[in-house]
Amino acid sequence: MTTRELQDEIIRLKKEKDICILAHAYQSHDIWEVADYVGDSYGLAVEASTAPQKNVIMSGVRFMAETVKTLSPEKNVYLANPMAGCPMAQQMDRETVLELRKQYPNAAVVAYINTTSELKTAVDVCVTSSSALRIIRSMPEKEILFIPDCNLGGWIAAQCPDKTFHFFKGGCPTHMSLNAGDVAKAKAAHPNALLLVHPECLAEVTAQADYAGSTTGIMKFAKESDAKEFIIGTEQSIVQHLQFDCPEKQFYSISPKCVCHNMKMTTLVDLYNIVAGKGGEEITLSDDVIRGAKACIDRMIALGG
Ligand code: 13P
Ligand code: SF4
Repeated sequence: MTTRELQDEIIRLKKEKDICILAHAYQSHDIWEVADYVGDSYGLAVEASTAPQKNVIMSGVRFMAETVKTLSPEKNVYLANPMAGCPMAQQMDRETVLELRKQYPNAAVVAYINTTSELKTAVDVCVTSSSALRIIRSMPEKEILFIPDCNLGGWIAAQCPDKTFHFFKGGCPTHMSLNAGDVAKAKAAHPNALLLVHPECLAEVTAQADYAGSTTGIMKFAKESDAKEFIIGTEQSIVQHLQFDCPEKQFYSISPKCVCHNMKMTTLVDLYNIVAGKGGEEITLSDDVIRGAKACIDRMIALGG
């Protein structure tokens, strides 16, 4: 089948079977074209709680599918490619959080959404890159234990000088592969371009950015800016999507290293197989995990909306 034929069949079958396809911004453009909603982690979480369909396919990574199931346990939720996991979400488990709580008994525990639902049962609130600053600023607690992304955490801490932050090793291997040398090289090659980066990057990268924010934030900034050239310091696919959206502007990847292989695992054929009734993985979570994780995601949506 051609790409176009696959897309037509996916669109026909998802309507016939009452299926909603949610795609993260890092998915490829052929997937964007068949999705009901495309967005960043925060947008996906909100959409998951309001989508009317009975069946949901997550084209992204495992923690995103778990978030959908947590918010809509009555729905049938599928991860399009069962191999697609976020390495950062595997870096910390619930037991480690409980140990850290003993070390910092007065701290509010804030988890990045890139964590398992099981871990979320042991934290006070979760955040995404687009909602973290707003949520943490609005919290009454002055002491914050931020897990697991030390780079996102450090970026937030620098903007909340009135709070004390504690971190515990963790971060995104894709964004952490970028360094000041990559910035220098990209700026030398494109001296007129603005640098837009994701706050999962190291501080030596975000410190040099003209804008730092979530995937959706980066795209919005680039579209609304009067500038004509941009170096994109996040996953490669955002370069491609922006080039489609703004053909009159130029977008350059900061480095060929900035590829998330997990996000790239899901293909249009995976989506076709699921809507055709084969492949994918149905997500199941225990009632206890759903109850505990839902409280922390609900709090994020209430504070971050
Ligand atoms: P956002 O979609 O919140 O920008 O996060 C990027 C990411 O790495 C998701 O795994
Ligand atoms: Fe996880 Fe980083 Fe990939 Fe996002 S880009 S899914 S944080 S490894």
